[in-house]
Amino acid sequence: MFKVFLKDNTSFECESGDTIVNAAMKNGVFLDHSCLSGRCSSCKFKVIKGDSIASENEISLSEDDVNKNYILTCVRKPLSDIYLDAEDLSSFGLKKPKTLPSKVASFEKLTDLILKVKLRLPPTQNFEFIEGQYVDIIKGSIKRSYSIASSSSSDNLEFLIKNYEGGFMSQYWFNDLAINDLLRIEGPKGTFFLRNNHDKDTLVFVGTGTGIAPIKSIIESENFDEKTKHIKNIFIFWGMGYSEEIFWKPNNSRVKFVPVLSRETDRKLYVQNVIFDYHFNLESTVVYACGSDIMISELKSKFLNSGLNEKDFFSDSFVQSN
Ligand SMILES: Cc1cc2nc3c(=O)[nH]c(=O)nc-3n(C[C@H](O)[C@H](O)[C@H](O)COP(=O)(O)OP(=O)(O)OC[C@H]3O[C@@H](n4cnc5c(N)ncnc54)[C@H](O)[C@@H]3O)c2cc1C
Ligand code: FES
Repeated sequence: MFKVFLKDNTSFECESGDTIVNAAMKNGVFLDHSCLSGRCSSCKFKVIKGDSIASENEISLSEDDVNKNYILTCVRKPLSDIYLDAEDLSSFGLKKPKTLPSKVASFEKLTDLILKVKLRLPPTQNFEFIEGQYVDIIKGSIKRSYSIASSSSSDNLEFLIKNYEGGFMSQYWFNDLAINDLLRIEGPKGTFFLRNNHDKDTLVFVGTGTGIAPIKSIIESENFDEKTKHIKNIFIFWGMGYSEEIFWKPNNSRVKFVPVLSRETDRKLYVQNVIFDYHFNLESTVVYACGSDIMISELKSKFLNSGLNEKDFFSDSFVQSN
């Protein structure tokens, strides 16, 4: 058993076979994370002191990161007591993940490639999450991550699901799915939720494809207006192919909604380029991006090169989750 110390004086115990993010959660401490498989870098923190070993390939860590003593805490197991330049997020009210049964309440095809699925949880079960989080959905031996698209006050959990060609879970969703199918969910997981952003006046949400799901959940949350009352400008940029695929828009007059259509005209428009025509004042802007990992890595490096502080860029990469 080793101890993990964070910079805010929080500490927790971690068994030698456990990963740091997982051990934190077991102890009611929450570190920034998303994919939990070394692919996205949301859980990247600097080691101040101590040793650890990677249990899986740290795919999203660059050579520069390694040289600067960064690790991906979702796949790292401690080999000694360890001190991290990381903060506990538990004050936001995150809950420990649990596994629950659920039934398919409804489903509807929204575009050729996107399905809306609603899952009903047993009425006796109290499942709490913060808008922006995701769950793992388990069908037999297959487990995949999906962001919750509905707000926490909705009766059912809503998901927006893309058909990945040749994908095992996609095969189920798009060919075999039936009302009342029994699925298990494991969650809530992830830390892509709205922070306090007290020092900012511009909020920029960016999604590609089904990456709009957690953004929709955040915008539709009951306390969104209260939480953002100091914010002057709220933008959503949503990257899709064609205008007829825009199946959702925010029902909130404070939000400027900008669909970015990559296939509508000969001009290939991508969110990670279009956004920079808006010339945001990056000192007072915070960005929340969700969807394809290519979009997120391009967008992040462009924003950081233009002067955005890394701590003002939050993301949930829809990397492969098998
Ligand atoms: C935190 C998180 C949240 C997610 N939320 C959503 C969501 O709300 N909606 C949604 O549709 N998906 C979401 N995903 C992606 C999802 O978990 C699965 O990866 C996706 O549904 C494919 O699963 P599959 O079983 O159909 O494909 P698999 O059997 O896993 O893979 C089959 C093929 O598809 C390719 N592939 C699989 N996944 C991806 C991917 N993500 N990007 C590119 N190629 C891929 C593989 O390379 C392979 O060729 C999320 C992923 C993460 C990590
Ligand atoms: S790399 Fe650790 S959460 Fe994605």
